[in-house]
Amino acid sequence: MRSLDEFAGEKLAALERAQLRRTPVVTARAGIWSERDGRRLLSFSCNDYLNMSQHPDVVAAAIEATARYGVGAGASRLVTGNHPLYAELESRLARLKGTEAACVFGSGYLANTGIIPALAGVDDLILIDEFSHACIHAGAKLSGAEVHLYRHADMTHAEEILAAHRTAKKRALIATDGVFSMDGDLAPLAALSALAQRYDAWLLADDAHGLGVIGGGRGSSFANGSRAEVPLQMGTLSKAVGAYGGYLCASHAVIDLMRTRARTFIYSTGLPPPVIAAAIAALDIIERDPVYAAEPLRKARLFARYLNLPEAQSAIVPVIVGATDAALAASELLRDEGFLVVAIRPPTVPAGTARLRFAFTAQHPNADIARLADIVRMRVLRH
Ligand SMILES: Cc1ncc(COP(=O)(O)O)c(C=O)c1O
Repeated sequence: MRSLDEFAGEKLAALERAQLRRTPVVTARAGIWSERDGRRLLSFSCNDYLNMSQHPDVVAAAIEATARYGVGAGASRLVTGNHPLYAELESRLARLKGTEAACVFGSGYLANTGIIPALAGVDDLILIDEFSHACIHAGAKLSGAEVHLYRHADMTHAEEILAAHRTAKKRALIATDGVFSMDGDLAPLAALSALAQRYDAWLLADDAHGLGVIGGGRGSSFANGSRAEVPLQMGTLSKAVGAYGGYLCASHAVIDLMRTRARTFIYSTGLPPPVIAAAIAALDIIERDPVYAAEPLRKARLFARYLNLPEAQSAIVPVIVGATDAALAASELLRDEGFLVVAIRPPTVPAGTARLRFAFTAQHPNADIARLADIVRMRVLRH
């Protein structure tokens, strides 16, 4: 239809003018290497922090599950898609996170857009750290609850909102990334937990970038050897676990509620058996080898030290460039030096904070990290 194509074309032209048009680039991955446009690049943009997506044991588990159960789940989990591997994965996740139960969703995005509306509605209040992932914001919007953003990691601001609005609302939920995906810092989960308890609010931490990396692999609720009281521990199996799928670890009652009320659980097909088998195999390795799980953070710290940046708190280190065109130019410069570091632009990050986002994996050689840091220091930061 003409009006439809005109609409799309005008939108695209406006995005192009603002340098905000995005296009997927074909990328073939082999370990820490990525091939793009015929060039082999050392990737610092994959969230495969433990390189599990290509680990021989993980790949073998996926192949074996495919041979045994087939490729697809065939239906939603409440129909016939609840194949036998789910129970094993869920009990492992609950064990790792120290909760009574766990529930696996189709993806992290589907998890948050299912969990939040199953817990909160029009009579309720939701507080969100402003830098939280898009799927937390989407889940909150879908719930119909009154949503307030608090300034990033600002406990005083969060408390002001609770003091002003909590009593007028039936229930309250505080939602935050555990590790912030574009900044790499950790949420103040212990302080958030205390605040939540003072105001009878429920705390949800999205540990997409913490599982497998922080706290001996158990995630950001276990950072620095302590344990924050987080009743809703959500995350994804697509990053350090190297597979796909989202999860919630919580009490029996909450998990049972998800299984019967979360719309993204009920109305979406179960995950393919090989994906679940791969996640189980990867969790096996993570549980067995916390020293390996500590490697991405060690590498990120090394890089941050070379650049005199604040100590890295996770496997993610941002270098804020500012303008979108400068971030794109810096990414191209690194590509010409053999590195893949994708520029992150608004609206993923606030206007004026376009950046290079470096993601470190266990297998990045130290010598390459040093060379990358040298180039960034001299040619991007210019000091
Ligand atoms: C913090 C955070 N939450 C959720 C997600 C979504 O997870 P998934 O890719 O499994 O949908 C991501 C990234 O993709 C993320 O960075």
